Amino acid sequence: MKCLALPHLCVLFGFLAVNVPGKDYPSKGYLTFDNLPMGSEEKPLVLRTFVPTIGLSASDVLPNHSTGAASPKYSARSGKEASKQTPPIHGIPAAIAVNMGKTLSYVWDTTECRLLYAWRDGFLNMKNYWGDPTSGRRRGFGYVPNLYGFVFYKAVGPHPVEINGQSLSSLGTPAYLGFTLGHDRIPTYKYKAGNSQITIKVEPGPSTQTLKLSFASTEQEKLGFKSPNTQVQVLKSSPGLLHLVIRPNAGENFLSEEKKVEIKKPTKDIGEGLYTTLGCIACHSLDGGKNHGPTLKGSYGAKREFQQAEPLVVDEDYIRESIEKPMAKTVKGYTSGMMPPYQLQKAEYDSLILFIKSVR
Ligand code: HEC
Repeated sequence: MKCLALPHLCVLFGFLAVNVPGKDYPSKGYLTFDNLPMGSEEKPLVLRTFVPTIGLSASDVLPNHSTGAASPKYSARSGKEASKQTPPIHGIPAAIAVNMGKTLSYVWDTTECRLLYAWRDGFLNMKNYWGDPTSGRRRGFGYVPNLYGFVFYKAVGPHPVEINGQSLSSLGTPAYLGFTLGHDRIPTYKYKAGNSQITIKVEPGPSTQTLKLSFASTEQEKLGFKSPNTQVQVLKSSPGLLHLVIRPNAGENFLSEEKKVEIKKPTKDIGEGLYTTLGCIACHSLDGGKNHGPTLKGSYGAKREFQQAEPLVVDEDYIRESIEKPMAKTVKGYTSGMMPPYQLQKAEYDSLILFIKSVR
């Protein structure tokens, strides 16, 4: 009926249906796949895949990964090598990427046998690696999947696990032994370091953007965990066992599939939302309680003393600087370098400032 009334539209839709291949493949019964796979807390998604390095230190964090050398591309057609050098593909092979829904994604590396990074609000865009869902086309060079979401933890320094006070980095290359899935479907990774077999399980921590790590070792030695600029809270420690919570040490937004929503007007409510989603809540209380960072209650207009700077009264500029470059000044009595720097939109800084001003 509508077609009779709107013949132009009908022609248009007919045209689209014929000329846009792929879009309706699933409805026609073809098998396709999703390039943006996601798991959930009940059913974590575990992927063995290439992952991006996102700026991790090659010498400290990835010492056992070799990087290839640039080499010319060979052409089968001409039988010659191109004069142009093609750089090696930058990515971490054979990592294990896990997604537990919106709250937590992480990468555990089977070469270094350690947690590399963790993020929220996304997972991996597999298009480079798996190809286009409808045409199957994949990138020949540069096939490392893209990460999207908000990275709140990045590995720094040598291997954080210590056996009797010694970092695993000093015990030679660890050997990955595989993973098992518990009844909760959360993977537990196993590896050999020195004479010990160590297992580790990674789970969401008690508050947003925190991680719970549970280690166990066959040798009943004293296990430790040390990582520069990372706040660690030990939950349980006994011979051959260590459970702990680590707090955010990074704050970087990666390209999102949905285009990032530009905030037009800063508001206190947006600031309050960011306080939770960006993980400030993990270190700053709103009720005057002392946490890893100063409480935000009554901070605006209060006097501050610093470890290596002149005292000042908390104003908007100081709050903005504290979020963007926390290393610039360190409040007396707190640890320098613990708060991650946040790269945000201007309106996001302004919203956080409005919110902090309102916490009286
Ligand atoms: C891992 C813990 C941690 C996280 C996460 C964190 N901070 Fe901090 N923050 C600190 C510490 C520690 C200090 C004090 C040391 C310093 O000045 O760097 C601090 C200082 C500050 C200050 C100065 C406070 C004052 O009263 O002088 C502000 C403002 C601030 N943070 C805001 C934020 C905001 C906003 C976020 C989230 C976007 C955030 N912080 C996330 C640990 C954290």
